[in-house]
Amino acid sequence: MTNSEVESVSGFVGNFNVTIRKKARYVDPDECTACAECANICPVAVPDEYQQGFSSRKAIYMPFPQAVPSAYILDMENCLGNNPIACGKCADVCEKKCINYDDQDELINIEAGVIIVATGMDVYDPTEYDEYGYTRFDNVITSMEFERLICAGGPTEGHFIRPSDRKIPKSIGFIQCVGSRSRNGRGNPYCSNICCMNTVKDTLLLCDHYPGVEARVFYMDMRAFGKGFEDLYMRSREEGVKYVRGIPGDVSENDENKNLVLTVENTTTGRREIHELEMLVLSQGVIPRQDGDQIKRLLTLSTTSDGFIMESHPKLKPVDAPTKGVYIAGCVESPKDVKDSVTQASAAAARASILLNAGKTRVEAITSHVETDKCNYCGICADVCPYNAILAPDRKAKRAPTIIQAACAGCGACAAECAQDAIIMRHFRDEQIMAQIEAILEVEPHKHLLTFACNWCSYAGGDNAGTARLQYPTTSRLIRTMCSGRVDEKFVLHAFRLGAPMVLVSGCHFADCHYINAVHWTQKRMDRLWNKLDKLKIRPDRLRLEWISAAEGQKFAKVMRELENSVRSVTMEEMEYTMKIMAEEENRILEKKLKAAAKKV
Ligand code: FES
Repeated sequence: MTNSEVESVSGFVGNFNVTIRKKARYVDPDECTACAECANICPVAVPDEYQQGFSSRKAIYMPFPQAVPSAYILDMENCLGNNPIACGKCADVCEKKCINYDDQDELINIEAGVIIVATGMDVYDPTEYDEYGYTRFDNVITSMEFERLICAGGPTEGHFIRPSDRKIPKSIGFIQCVGSRSRNGRGNPYCSNICCMNTVKDTLLLCDHYPGVEARVFYMDMRAFGKGFEDLYMRSREEGVKYVRGIPGDVSENDENKNLVLTVENTTTGRREIHELEMLVLSQGVIPRQDGDQIKRLLTLSTTSDGFIMESHPKLKPVDAPTKGVYIAGCVESPKDVKDSVTQASAAAARASILLNAGKTRVEAITSHVETDKCNYCGICADVCPYNAILAPDRKAKRAPTIIQAACAGCGACAAECAQDAIIMRHFRDEQIMAQIEAILEVEPHKHLLTFACNWCSYAGGDNAGTARLQYPTTSRLIRTMCSGRVDEKFVLHAFRLGAPMVLVSGCHFADCHYINAVHWTQKRMDRLWNKLDKLKIRPDRLRLEWISAAEGQKFAKVMRELENSVRSVTMEEMEYTMKIMAEEENRILEKKLKAAAKKV
């Protein structure tokens, strides 16, 4: 369905219900023969987005030559008006009578077992790099604009001319990494992956179209990894393209001939160079789609710190989204070239068909379950669930929440937030975790460093420290939970009650939580706990929160060593006071729960 947008998605793996808005085209695509009579007569001309604004299109137009369906479409925003009809010339000349000004958007519902997200990317707008003069000088263009100018189907029919005087330039420069690998507050810190090879290809096209053209590429590093890429790069050098290792700091324009003057430090020779070129191409980076938040919201997906959609596991499940039954492919996941996108799309299609062909799916062993008799219908569990896997309770009807087992991923945030202990996490039940705390603190509790570590990052970070043979205190004791969002307040309070000098809660970095945003609940809970400790006159710094990734073995060992030093600062009197206060606090909470249960009965 082209010219359509997904409006809403509900349901879960195997049972998604998707509402799609099929936008009005105002031209019947089945009848339109693309004869172009309508466009020829249309009096409106607006910049053609497909041609990067180098030429114009009409209000009724073909979006691009390979558009599907191969039919015209009416841009109602730019049409002279259809209500009342102010022009109507296109409808008059259309022999097939396929133009309908009263066409309306259509809402379509489809049922889907799985969903593949392949919504692509946007390109970086280089206007904030004012020193390159993109907005000031006509002959500075972007790599996307270059594509249109050199293309046979482009506005100049493949004649690469410079915008200021429509002459074919004899010298052209390319500036790499515009908006990529930048840590100065402009652009993005990541590598856009495709720009180096795109420029190499562009220089070869230029050499092919205009033998003898002078092309210079200004770069930080040329990244020509991948099959055949190094050969392509070498071919470009053999064709005479000059590669200058250095990024220009300034571009100015020669008023007389409109040539561009670049100042650059060549880091290979260590010399400052000045280059005069007739045209300049900015190799713009790749950015996540601007409407990415909408896609995230629709499918409860999460993003990495770069803004690209996060995969379920970078090595083991690179095309699975954290939401079951949703797969990702292409640049929505990270910048990549056509070959990698096709590979990833094939993998996503294969993963999706495995699930569809099986006709059934295994639910996670670790899921939550509601003990309806304890529930007070507050609905907090449904609010915290990152997967929308909990159908909210109904207080009036006294209906407890329902957990959709197929959608539950097992983070445990609901169990940790439920004040009534009405939610049980299979394999990570309260009693099981409490028993581990008690076992660790049974003998000489003041000597042990108790840590709650999430399975995916911090626990793996501990493993990493171990395999790297990094030294950290032997008194460290780890309790694994699937997500730091599972760490219940009562676990921490119980640990202090049993004499723990310090407690560490550790999870994935914010954008890396494997359960979408469950880690946000860890942070909220910790804030509550620090407040509580403060009120109870217990030093809040005895409870620490650290984000440690699976690759941060060094950090894990360092935190453990710091923790051991902090333990030494906790006096025996302090611990005894804490144990006494915590025992009272636990009793108070228990009494409250008993009263609530009695009231319910
Ligand atoms: Fe590590 Fe959520 S999975 S904090």
